[in-house]
Amino acid sequence: MNKILVTGGAGFIGSNFIHYLLERYDDCYITNVDLLTYAGNLDNLTNISDDPRYRFIKADIVDFVSISNLVSQGFDTIVNFAAESHVDRSIEAPGIFVRTNVLGTQSLLEAARRFGVKKFVQVSTDEVYGSLGQEGYFTETSPLNPTSPYSASKTAADHLVLAYGHTFGLSVNVTRCSNNYGTYQFPEKLIPLMITNALADKPLPVYGDGMNVRDWLHVRDHCCAVDLVMRQARTGEIYNIGGNNERTNIDIVKIILRRLNKPESLIMFVQDRPGHDRRYAIDSSKLRKDLGWEPKYSFDRGVIETIEWYCNNIKWWEKIKSGEYLRYYEQMYDNRKKAN
Ligand code: NAD
Ligand code: DAU
Repeated sequence: MNKILVTGGAGFIGSNFIHYLLERYDDCYITNVDLLTYAGNLDNLTNISDDPRYRFIKADIVDFVSISNLVSQGFDTIVNFAAESHVDRSIEAPGIFVRTNVLGTQSLLEAARRFGVKKFVQVSTDEVYGSLGQEGYFTETSPLNPTSPYSASKTAADHLVLAYGHTFGLSVNVTRCSNNYGTYQFPEKLIPLMITNALADKPLPVYGDGMNVRDWLHVRDHCCAVDLVMRQARTGEIYNIGGNNERTNIDIVKIILRRLNKPESLIMFVQDRPGHDRRYAIDSSKLRKDLGWEPKYSFDRGVIETIEWYCNNIKWWEKIKSGEYLRYYEQMYDNRKKAN
């Protein structure tokens, strides 16, 4: 498990995962392959860029020639975080989601099987199960019922991963995690968007009635779970990862405003996301029982630390919010008319 290829390691969860591994293990050697799309940011990794256990390679996971050349160098493990990850963008432009999330995963799988990679971990999402009503939880045997182009592309990738395990004997695992929050999250996602808008006294755009529910997990707890799966899971197993921490969106927004001492008048209800899933909730008892995983962060502590991190790292997110992202934001949110 020493030579690890992390894809998408310049993004939110991938960069946290690389930090997690380097802090925890002296004898792991990580290659981070990332295309540096709008979501990839090497600023997430500046303090480890000279670490001899780490190297960065810019490449597209869809480009089979580049990926084969890289994988032929010999890796014990591939952990695939690389993806188009934002649901709203998948509604605006679905094609790139199929390209990256489906074709990119297949290209990695093919290289893994040809060059004898010992373990392939696919970082998937709870969104493959679709939406829940007011009760119940997703288990690993819940039917797959994706509803957005993003979640449909992730579901297709899951099927390919499991098929490569079944047909070619590649040692594979799939993890399906709920919503993450924490450091280095791109400010298009709910929590960093609301923190950074509030800090700038800009409106906080809440979709629909704000009563959609997500099950929030600190990114470090997600990283710990992926690490356990990578090292200990039996081949072919799927693991749900979640924090038992369901919150409505409006509750999250109010927590952020209170902590920053900003008025609730900044909240602006806007048109709903098309096909917006109402509720996600994860049953992660299999992961707890098989691999002894437990989340370490309470949401109360984790969200305060996250808010503080964004307050202390204004340069990190201002650089993002003043670039190409600004055009995306204006287009995406101008289209959503104010609903109150
Ligand atoms: P992110 O958008 O922050 O990062 C994605 C990374 O992938 C970026 O660095 C980007 O440059 C890279 N990338 C995109 N296309 C690429 C390509 N063709 N080749 C190489 N690199 C490419 O995403 P994230 O939030 O860190 O999510 C990481 C993974 O975890 C995704 O697979 C996502 O589906 C999954 N996931 C995310 C969450 C969440 O709450 N954010 C929850 C569960 C699962
Ligand atoms: O559940 C795991 C998934 O969580 C991951 O697979 C995805 O990669 C990740 O982006 C996330 O998807 P969501 O769509 O749940 O996350 P997002 O932060 O975009 O939205 C969270 C909730 O907040 C959702 O109900 C929509 C709402 N929302 C979001 C934005 C960006 C708003 O009300 N206003 C907003 O401006």
